[in-house]
Amino acid sequence: MAQLAIIVAHAQNGTIGLAGNMPWRLPEDLKHFKEVTMGHPVIMGRVTHESIGRPLPGRDNIVISRNPDYRPEGCRTATSLEEAAGMIKNDELAFVIGGAQIYAQALKLVDTCWITEIQAEYPGDAFFGPLSLEEWDREVLSELPANEKRPALTFCIFRRKH
Ligand SMILES: NC(=O)c1ccc[n+]([C@@H]2O[C@H](COP(=O)([O-])OP(=O)(O)OC[C@H]3O[C@@H](n4cnc5c(N)ncnc54)[C@H](OP(=O)(O)O)[C@@H]3O)[C@@H](O)[C@H]2O)c1
Repeated sequence: MAQLAIIVAHAQNGTIGLAGNMPWRLPEDLKHFKEVTMGHPVIMGRVTHESIGRPLPGRDNIVISRNPDYRPEGCRTATSLEEAAGMIKNDELAFVIGGAQIYAQALKLVDTCWITEIQAEYPGDAFFGPLSLEEWDREVLSELPANEKRPALTFCIFRRKH
């Protein structure tokens, strides 16, 4: 079995996206995302892949669509999250990178979520969580204070309690 983990950045009100994109520009979070996921397979929904617009370099990109003929360049495809998970080598760590539909389906399959908490509210039409602290332990990895360009960011790992 592959090991699956979620990685997501969400606002205080749970927003992860608006009109097919992320409603913020956060270079520090993109750097964090790259460091955590580099070298690992990344699994995403078709909408998220099209919003990124290209395969993420240095990572095996697996895109999920109900359309069996969907063949985005430079990516592998699956028609379900379970099929995508089955395409990962045994014991290899793969990241589920969104969006809202795929996170919702992945939450029951993962024990670890790498979460960037964006300490502000944003309007959105795609949401994540919240994760209950009765079910999840929250470890803060690092915090960046707010500056003139962006709100404070809290980089966390949530681990499912057993
Ligand atoms: N803040 C973050 O960390 C973050 C990360 C990623 C994405 N986002 C944002 O999230 C938003 C996109 O999320 P979304 O929920 O609209 O789309 P999504 O989860 O990226 O993709 C949805 C698509 O995945 C396919 N799909 C979903 N469930 C499936 C299933 N059970 N079997 C087969 N295919 C399935 C369908 O593709 P077909 O229609 O082709 O069948 C569906 O339209 C965007 O705004 C994006 O910017 C934010």
